[in-house]
Amino acid sequence: MTIQPHGGELINRFNPNEKYEHLQLEIPLDGIALSDLELIGVGAYSPLDGFLSQEDYKSVVENMRLASGIVWSIPITLPVTEEVAATLKVGEKAKLVFNGEVYGTIEVHEIYTPDKSIEAKNVYGTDDLNHPGVKKLFERPNVYVGGKVTLVKKTKKLFPDYTFDPKETRALFEEKGWKSVVGFQTRNPVHRAHEYIQKVALEIVDGLFLNPLVGETKSDDIPAKIRMESYEVLLDKYYPKDRVQLGVFLAAMRYAGPREAIFHALVRKNYGCTHFIVGRDHAGVGNYYGTYDAQKMFDNFTPEEIGITPLKFEHSFYCTECDGMATTKTCPHDASSRIILSGTKVREMLRNGEIPPSTFSRKEVVEVLIRGLREEVHS
Ligand code: ADX
Repeated sequence: MTIQPHGGELINRFNPNEKYEHLQLEIPLDGIALSDLELIGVGAYSPLDGFLSQEDYKSVVENMRLASGIVWSIPITLPVTEEVAATLKVGEKAKLVFNGEVYGTIEVHEIYTPDKSIEAKNVYGTDDLNHPGVKKLFERPNVYVGGKVTLVKKTKKLFPDYTFDPKETRALFEEKGWKSVVGFQTRNPVHRAHEYIQKVALEIVDGLFLNPLVGETKSDDIPAKIRMESYEVLLDKYYPKDRVQLGVFLAAMRYAGPREAIFHALVRKNYGCTHFIVGRDHAGVGNYYGTYDAQKMFDNFTPEEIGITPLKFEHSFYCTECDGMATTKTCPHDASSRIILSGTKVREMLRNGEIPPSTFSRKEVVEVLIRGLREEVHS
């Protein structure tokens, strides 16, 4: 039996046969809302069956729970401009449109104006506009529409071979005979530190679901297309094929650190994972969060309320004295023996065609990244 979805039931709001042509009202979606619509539709955000109503929104922002009490840490909202809001009617259905194409419908249940400053402080821990998640929050329109959605069309996929709905990953894991599966969220190439914690986890669980986020990220993160190629070469050369499944996560990155770690874990439970890796500064950015704040966040809930087991890892690195990968928990040597490079530093090196040491990143991965970034510059 696979793990129970969050809230007990896997939501299915996908209906390609739903008629929408007669609907007059229309709501334009941005990239974030489009990915959220699809993820709600396929059940990745179970128990959500639509964009949050005001009561759920307030409860999520203030208490990290839906009004029903179920844990939910990131508000999934549908922002519209005041002009669009003025055309909508509560109780009526509207088409959800991106680039002129209809992807879904919403039963407009509520139209409300959020206090974004409170949302920013509670969800991101700051209202500093230099924070990429906060910046995005304030850039999006100012009125929210709550209501149940139907996904009528899935988006065209950049990585069709690696795109699975929760019901498909659940079936895949069962087919492989995996009773325990660890989910790994990443928005980066897999470096040696990531590989180390994944493989330590693989020592105790049956399978690894490598689930890189490929939705919107900030502009200096490495593009998903380049990352995907790097995952393929790494898995091919260094991982046991029958114990790893690669699949993309369509959501946008929020950079909300601790709250996003809870959200990431709950969603991976919906995909059928029993365990979830939370390492150093999970979903963090800059110095907004403490190194282990995301791990500590799980202490606010009972294990039953979360339902998926977080596997918490200390900062890991290559130690020249140990002559191997280690963490602060296992290595007695000091900082001078440890190969630690910041993400920013590595991106800078790669963009300049410099090769980070193999103790930081596998050479096959580095080759893909340098080539990919070079082509990106020339395209
Ligand atoms: S994230 O924004 O998707 O969390 P990243 O891709 O860097 O960023 O991290 C993926 C996962 O690996 C997260 O759980 C993160 O905490 C963990 N992680 C990243 N680097 C390290 C490291 N050096 N040591 C331990 N955990 C790490």
